[in-house]
Amino acid sequence: MHTCDRARRPGLTNLTFPLWFSSLCLCACVVSSSFGADTKKAAKVTYEEHVLPILRDKCIGCHNQDKKRGGLVLSNYTAAMQGGSSGVVVKPGDLDNSLLFKLVSHKTEPHMPPNSPRLPDVMLAVIEKWIAGGALENSAARRSSRASRRPMSV
Ligand code: HEC
Repeated sequence: MHTCDRARRPGLTNLTFPLWFSSLCLCACVVSSSFGADTKKAAKVTYEEHVLPILRDKCIGCHNQDKKRGGLVLSNYTAAMQGGSSGVVVKPGDLDNSLLFKLVSHKTEPHMPPNSPRLPDVMLAVIEKWIAGGALENSAARRSSRASRRPMSV
């Protein structure tokens, strides 16, 4: 009788444990998916969609394949991320160490664009958000990296 009683009790625990555990999982999922939505919103600024039009307007006249002023090409994402003669000029998530942002915001010389007024604040804000948000190439790149990460976390 005694052994029978003991055998039944862990059986009960085994039944309640998955219930408890799955409700915990559910909570974690809800929390992580709402957090995911937040980061997605914050990281919406991308090179192709928002930054390139500004660079085309203000920078690419001097920073293209033919005229690489300062060794820097800004007309495509790969080249922009490679940087210029000073090395990398865009460090994703790190504004203070992104020379590109320091020059356009006039925190450091030589000011960019040279001999011109500082870029309007709206443009600076786009560049700032782009670098702070991880300097993404485009929204498709983000979507595919999220999709490929999903099966691993399950
Ligand atoms: C009229 C031409 C011209 C325009 C327009 C221009 N630049 Fe430059 N840029 C230069 C020159 C010249 C240098 C090199 C300056 C030096 O080394 O003293 C340079 C250097 C740089 C560097 C440093 C590269 C390195 O590795 O040392 C960055 C970053 C940069 N520019 C960003 C920009 C951005 C962003 C814009 C647009 C907002 C811009 N530039 C517009 C001429 C220009």
